[in-house]
Amino acid sequence: MLPDELTDPEHDIPAGRHVIQAEEDLLTARHAVRAAAVAAGFSIVDQTKIVTAASELVRNAYIHGGGGTVTITALRDDRGRVGLRLRVRDEGPGIADVEQAMTDGFSTGAGLGHGLGGTRRLVDDFHLDTAPGRGTTVTITRWKP
Ligand SMILES: Nc1ncnc2c1ncn2[C@@H]1O[C@H](COP(=O)(O)OP(=O)(O)OP(=O)(O)O)[C@@H](O)[C@H]1O
Ligand SMILES: [Mg+2]
Repeated sequence: MLPDELTDPEHDIPAGRHVIQAEEDLLTARHAVRAAAVAAGFSIVDQTKIVTAASELVRNAYIHGGGGTVTITALRDDRGRVGLRLRVRDEGPGIADVEQAMTDGFSTGAGLGHGLGGTRRLVDDFHLDTAPGRGTTVTITRWKP
């Protein structure tokens, strides 16, 4: 964790920002996301969905984006609904054709090309912000049922 990180005071969720720079950081990021999902009270099935989604995004940031950060934020809306938001950001080459990148089976690397499409299906909200040369930021949110 970076020094500027905080534990979410309201929910005691290990929120904060984690650097993805080396392969072992992928594991650390997964653990942090799982801990946040557990602390937020997600079911085991939902924890797994959130961790799987996070895992795909941090892997993309590492492999395609040359490394980046993941920021974990606990949410509570005005009706008391609890959620978790993850923002995975890199300053790599960006994605020129987002529609193509989102298509299952499309990969510019050695992967199966199911990471982004699969991630979108695992969460309630998926937002991809990217442009060639500007890096990539993917923000996902999942709410507790
Ligand atoms: N952070 C990123 N920066 C640059 N390009 C990306 C990034 N994330 C995804 N892409 C591009 O989108 C394509 C599709 O991504 P996706 O995660 O769906 O598949 P993959 O990473 O190639 O394979 P898989 O995730 O199945 O192992 C990638 O091959 C890559 O070209
Ligand atoms: Mg991928």
